[in-house]
Amino acid sequence: MTAIDAFDMVLFGGTGDLVMRKLLPALYHQHQDGNLPADGRLICLGRSVPDTAAYIEKAHSLAKGYLGSAYNDADWATFSARIQYLKLDATQPEEFTKLAEVLNEFPRRSRVFYLSTAPDLFAPISKSLAAVGLNKGNSRVVLEKPLGHDLESSNKISHEVGEFFQEQQIYRIDHYLGKEPVLNLIALRFGNTLLEPLWRREWIRDVQITVTEQVGVETRADFYDKAGALRDMIQNHLLQLLTIVAMEPPASIDADAVRDEKLKILRALKPLTAETVHSHVVRGQYRAGAVNGKPVPGYLEEPGVPASSKTETFVALKAEIQTWRWAGVPFYLRTGKRLQERLAEIVINFRETPLSIFGRNATPNRLVIQLQPDESVRLYLMAKEPGNQFRLRPVHLDLDFKEFFQARAPEAYERLLMDVIRGDLSLFVRRDELQAAWKWVEPIIDSWETSIEGPKPYTAGTWGPAASSALLSRDGLCWHEES
Ligand code: BG6
Repeated sequence: MTAIDAFDMVLFGGTGDLVMRKLLPALYHQHQDGNLPADGRLICLGRSVPDTAAYIEKAHSLAKGYLGSAYNDADWATFSARIQYLKLDATQPEEFTKLAEVLNEFPRRSRVFYLSTAPDLFAPISKSLAAVGLNKGNSRVVLEKPLGHDLESSNKISHEVGEFFQEQQIYRIDHYLGKEPVLNLIALRFGNTLLEPLWRREWIRDVQITVTEQVGVETRADFYDKAGALRDMIQNHLLQLLTIVAMEPPASIDADAVRDEKLKILRALKPLTAETVHSHVVRGQYRAGAVNGKPVPGYLEEPGVPASSKTETFVALKAEIQTWRWAGVPFYLRTGKRLQERLAEIVINFRETPLSIFGRNATPNRLVIQLQPDESVRLYLMAKEPGNQFRLRPVHLDLDFKEFFQARAPEAYERLLMDVIRGDLSLFVRRDELQAAWKWVEPIIDSWETSIEGPKPYTAGTWGPAASSALLSRDGLCWHEES
């Protein structure tokens, strides 16, 4: 890894869940691996904790649990020595002079402002940072989703933050882009010749992108009930995965070369209409059921969820990409909570052989890139079963990264935080990409808002409403786990 210069990272929302659960553990891991420069500081901001000692104590008790076996007292001691806590109310512009004083101790360092706050604070915080000159030079601002709740509100955030930070300074995080198998998909596609000739409509029958969870809405009803699965997962994570699968080979691995190609895919998505929303998009909401044998309540019984809520906790849809490479190939996306398994995978189903000389038992090839629960790439091929009959059976070639590389695979946030510190924008979403993704989902939002039909109920612990299977069976196909 190339050496990186000293930096200051400022974590807004420093006492919040994301910082404690993901960001501090990720930074601890990188510290432990020796990837952070000795003088990198973490300046955590919040209102509820009085001072640095109390903050470190809180971080210790929370983050420790998330670190599991990676935690040890010695590394925590050197890691926590980087942490400085500043009591600061981000809604009060005059309080930013305190922050400027701390940062101006080292005026030449690169500065990262991670806004782990509600999105309505993105613009005021950017403005207050600019007012004390902290948007200048080597400053970067990291924005966490939700980046708006529709095209208009997202454009508003982009516009307002854009008044104080240049696009090259804005890092919009989609943590799915930091997951190792996603990066490996880029490596597989553009580091080998083998797949490229096959990676097109002539040889690929359909693509399935699934991100399912067993957890329910947990303690986030307040946020989730206003968002739903479409805004929470499809608009960002699943569409981003789709762009990685479908983009043309970029001319280089430079941030804008990659993002230009991803953007072309988002813009080539066939626009949905009220009719196609009806036929191509399924929304569901979980009812009481059992997950892993444990009874769980339905969405409407979850604390904080209004009894009349029509918020979807499941979406399955069919997308089409209008390019020469992909015309006619359905891309099925599916996500939901309280489903049978926790699974994130991209399945590429190849076409059948042009002629079946082995009879009916030849199944088409399939490439499965699994992100969760395991990280693997598996290519299914047909092989002959031992014996004196010519019987074929699917076998698989496995790329097991853990076993092969014998190295710890960093968590998505580790990779992405290091990229921000280094100033590498490749895995961050550009403004025009964000806009194109919102634009594409907007007809779905509009149509659901005016529809008298609500989400289809499904029992917790299943694979979602029956309409999800019907979406594929109408095309003569089925989801990966059904085949
Ligand atoms: C977040 C969503 O972006 O991604 C959550 O807001 C979801 O609702 C989470 O649970 C899933 O991420 P991961 O990495 O656990 O699959």
